[in-house]
Amino acid sequence: MILLSIDELNIQVYGCRKCRLWQGAKHGVPGEGPLNAKVMLIGQNPGADEDETGRPFVGRAGKFLSKTLAEFGIEREKVFITNIVKHVSPKNRKPYPDEVAACLPYVNIQINVIKPKIIVLIGASAKETPRVEGIKYIQIIHPSAAMRFTNMGEKFRVQIAEVAKLIGAIDS
Ligand code: URA
Repeated sequence: MILLSIDELNIQVYGCRKCRLWQGAKHGVPGEGPLNAKVMLIGQNPGADEDETGRPFVGRAGKFLSKTLAEFGIEREKVFITNIVKHVSPKNRKPYPDEVAACLPYVNIQINVIKPKIIVLIGASAKETPRVEGIKYIQIIHPSAAMRFTNMGEKFRVQIAEVAKLIGAIDS
């Protein structure tokens, strides 16, 4: 793997033509957050609001996620948030396996540069994210499902509480 700086990686993502998704997208969405973040959140792919702004998890689901994190004492500004796939897909369809494969090197580089202690896998991203030894992984329900179904919402809160506990354990 060629290790790029995050700035270089972002430039590559903005101009990425490794799969077809760029054709229907306004902006690449590389991810954001401090480079010394101990916690990384990884979703599957950006939606329309993220495409519009070039920022991850800024739509309704993202706001719900940020609010719930804050309720459990986790500041969004302190975590690095990204997605496996860096461009929106047509009608927000699930990214195809070749699109995931083309984009995976980016998240691998992000993990290698940031070296988080904890990776929170959001929804479907869990299947695709490679596991690196020494990093603690935890999977959570996608916030859009948590917003829609009461039982999922309850489970989501339990999972975020678990994330907060893990962060507390590495901080102490
Ligand atoms: N859902 C995702 O999985 N990622 C985003 O960036 C926004 C919504």
